[in-house]
This record gives sequence, C-alpha cells and structure tokens, in this order.
Amino acid sequence: MMRLQKYLANAGVASRRGAEKIISEGRVSVNDEIIREMGVQIDESYDTVAVDGEVIKNTEKKYYIMLNKPVGFVTTVSDDLGRETVMDLVSDISARIYPVGRLDYDTEGLLLLTNDGDLTYRITHPKHDISKTYVAEVTGNISMDTILQLRRGIMLDGQKTSPAEVEVVGATQFGTKVEITIHEGRNRQVRRMFESLGCIVKKLKRTKEAGLTLGHLPLGKWRKLSESEVNMLKKIEASGSKEKKSTSKPKPKAFMKSNSRRTTTQKRVKKNDK
Ligand code: URA
Repeated sequence: MMRLQKYLANAGVASRRGAEKIISEGRVSVNDEIIREMGVQIDESYDTVAVDGEVIKNTEKKYYIMLNKPVGFVTTVSDDLGRETVMDLVSDISARIYPVGRLDYDTEGLLLLTNDGDLTYRITHPKHDISKTYVAEVTGNISMDTILQLRRGIMLDGQKTSPAEVEVVGATQFGTKVEITIHEGRNRQVRRMFESLGCIVKKLKRTKEAGLTLGHLPLGKWRKLSESEVNMLKKIEASGSKEKKSTSKPKPKAFMKSNSRRTTTQKRVKKNDK
C-alpha cells in the first residue's frame, strides 16, 4: 500500500507537491474514480492509476543528474517569458526529468535534476535540513561582526534565518569571497542575508548540496550521479529528518475513504477472477 501522491511521484509524474496539486485539480483517477483528497492509499498490484485519463505505470527508470547551471537560465521546465531554461542544457535523457529545488536566474552552480519525485521531496522539504554551500563574491571588505551576524542568523521577512557556517575564503576584484552554508531554501536567501548587512553580492555559485560536490564539472555541463552518490541521497530520510523526532504521525484523513474504495477494487478483482 502506498499513498497516491507518493505513487505518482515515484512514477516520475511530478514531485510529491506537484502530485498533490494535480490530485486537487481532479486530474487523477484510481480505478476510474476521480480522487481529489490527499492521503488515499492505493495498492500497486491491483489499482489502476491514471492522470488525465492516461494510465501511469510505476516502472519508469530513474535518472539523477547534476548540472553546473550558468547564469541566464531559469530553473523550470518551461518559461512563460520564453527565456532559456535549465532543460535546454540537459539532452539525451528520454524521461521527464525536472529540477530539484531552484537556483536564481543570476546564480550559477550545482543543480540536481531527476524524475524521482520521492527523492525530490526529501531533498526539498524543510524538515530534512539539507545543507547547501555557496561561494558569494561580495563588494568591499567583510568585517568579523558581519560574519558573526550571518552565522547567528538574519531577520528576513520577520523570521530569523537558521545558523549558517560562514568563512572568508579569498579576495576578488570586487571585494571578498565568502563561503556560506545554509540549511534552508528561502527565496534569494543568500543574497538577501548579505544585502541586509549592506553587502552587495556580485556573483553567487552553489558548490555543494546534500553532501554532493560540484567539483570540476564545467559550466553548462551535466553528469549522471554515481551509484554511491544516489545511495547517499536515498539515506536522507533515515538520518537527518526532524520528522523522526515527532512522536506520532496522524493517520491520513482519507483513510476511511480509501477503505471504502478498496471494496470497489475487490469487486473488480472478483470480476476478473471469473
Ligand atoms: N540564495 C540566493 O540568493 N540565490 C540562489 O539562487 C540560491 C540561494
């Protein structure tokens, strides 16, 4: 048994959040019955899941890709404004892969792409505290006080950023090169953290994410993750999850519905047995 949104994510239809959206839009059916609520459990062996009437089989090969994103590409599958997207940089992959999280248009560096919705969920959900390291080239000199404030946390939108690791790693023509590791993914977080202390970020590059390192991957190029890198990512839930600390997990609201729907499935199976 598996939650419907997890099944759709595993099948590469969308991320788990994306799957929830298409369910709420009434585009998903189980055994020809449209499902709009979250939490419905399905049995992979018996139930037939369809999106927009097309049956979804959970057998798609999974791809895990690291791209060194250049500035000037949006981190989406398509763009209404006709700008180039990161998908224009990834060729030869027949599956419907999509970016894991996002990097700003004007940020470069490590970006993961996959068709594994379950893994996307684990990497992007705030409860997993995934670390992301950036090298920021900022104007002027950085004082020790600025470093300490960045480390302790900065108020953004009325909420303090969680503690960051911050080191000065060099000098540039603009000023200072700072390495910063954060554990959240708020909108333009790194730029806004520096800006709130009067420092302008001239260049921003992500060098690490979730234990993966960009290394010498050339700008604009991509590579498949190694088996050990994929296995490391798949361990995320087991290790870093805040969810583990919660004592009880509420049962999905639609549990009763799923049980009643099971009767429909059993009827169908019986019919087939004849
Ligand atoms: N922080 C930013 O400011 N921009 C990014 O793209 C990522 C993190």
